[in-house]
Amino acid sequence: MQRWLIVGAGDVARRMVPLIHNRVLLFALCRDKTAAARWRSLGALPIMGDLDCPATLRRLSGLAQGIFHFAPPPTAGLHDPRTRHLVAALRRGTSLPQHLIYISTTGVYGPCAGAWLDETRPVNPVTARALRRVDAERALRIFGTQSNCTVTILRAPGIYAEDRLPLERLRAGLPVPAAPHDPFTNHIHALDLARAAVRAMHYGRPNRVYNVVDDSNLTLGQYYDQLAHRHGLPPPPRLPLDRLKEVVGEMGYSFMSESRRIGNHRIKRELALEWRYPHVIPNC
Ligand SMILES: NC(=O)c1ccc[n+]([C@@H]2O[C@H](COP(=O)([O-])OP(=O)(O)OC[C@H]3O[C@@H](n4cnc5c(N)ncnc54)[C@H](OP(=O)(O)O)[C@@H]3O)[C@@H](O)[C@H]2O)c1
Repeated sequence: MQRWLIVGAGDVARRMVPLIHNRVLLFALCRDKTAAARWRSLGALPIMGDLDCPATLRRLSGLAQGIFHFAPPPTAGLHDPRTRHLVAALRRGTSLPQHLIYISTTGVYGPCAGAWLDETRPVNPVTARALRRVDAERALRIFGTQSNCTVTILRAPGIYAEDRLPLERLRAGLPVPAAPHDPFTNHIHALDLARAAVRAMHYGRPNRVYNVVDDSNLTLGQYYDQLAHRHGLPPPPRLPLDRLKEVVGEMGYSFMSESRRIGNHRIKRELALEWRYPHVIPNC
C-alpha cells in the first residue's frame, strides 16, 4: 500500500481525506495533541512535529512515497525556512519520496494590471509574502531535480467554502477599491483544490506548475456586491486606492492592489479536472 504524508494538515488537507480514504496509508504531521486526535479520528496516523523545529522532523525521513506540503511559510522574512526544514528531513531518508505536491499561491505573479495570464508568466513577487512563496517553490524544484522526485506546484488564489466566506468583512463594512482600480480577483473552492491535489499526486508532471483557479471572471467589487446580495448584507463601500491603505492595513491593501485574471486551461487539460464549483458566485 502506498504511504502518503500530509504536511500542513489543515482545512484543504481535511477535505482530501474522503477522496483517498482506505486506498493509501495516510500520515499527518501535527503540532499538538488536539490536531493529532482529529487526524486519528479521520483515519490518518498522526506524526508529532513542527516545521519550525527541525529536530522534531526526523520521523519524516523515508516515511512516505507521496508528500502533500500545504504548510504556509512563516509570516515574516523573505525566505521559507519551513520548506527548507522539510526538504532537509526528506533528503535524510534512505528512500526518497516519489512525488511531492505543494500548494503555493497565485500571489507569486505579482501585480499584473488586470492582464490575463497562464503558468508561462514569469513570477514577479513584490511583497515579502510572495517572495517567501517563490523561495519555497524554488527550494522544492531544486529538491525535485536533485532527488528525482516529481514536484508539482499548485498555485491557488483565494480559497473559499461555505464555511469560509468573508462575511465578517462585509458586516464590518470594509471598503473595496473604487473604479478604475477595482482589481480582478480569482477564487477556488477548497474542495476543488483538494481534488486537484489528489489528481496531481496521480498525474502531475515533474516540475510542473498548475494554476488552480475556477472559471469566475469578477472584480473584487463585483464579487463582494454579489456575495452581499446573496447574504442580505450591504454592499461594501468604495474608496479610492490612496485612501484604502489606512482603512484595510498594509496586507489587505496588498491583496487589493494586485489585479490578475488567471487562466486554468493547463490543469483542466493535463489533470482532466472539471470543477465542482466553477463559479465563486453561481451563475456569475
Ligand atoms: N487562504 C487562502 O485564500 C489561500 C490562498 C492561496 C494559498 N493558500 C495556502 O494554501 C495552503 C492550504 O490552505 P488551508 O486553507 O488548508 O490552510 P490551513 O487550514 O491554515 O492549514 C495550514 C496547516 O499548516 C500547518 N502548519 C503551519 N505551520 C506549521 C508548522 N510550523 N509545522 C507544521 N505544520 C504547520 C497548520 O497547523 P496548525 O493546525 O497546527 O496551525 C495548519 O494545519 C496554505 O499554505 C495556505 O497558506 C491559502
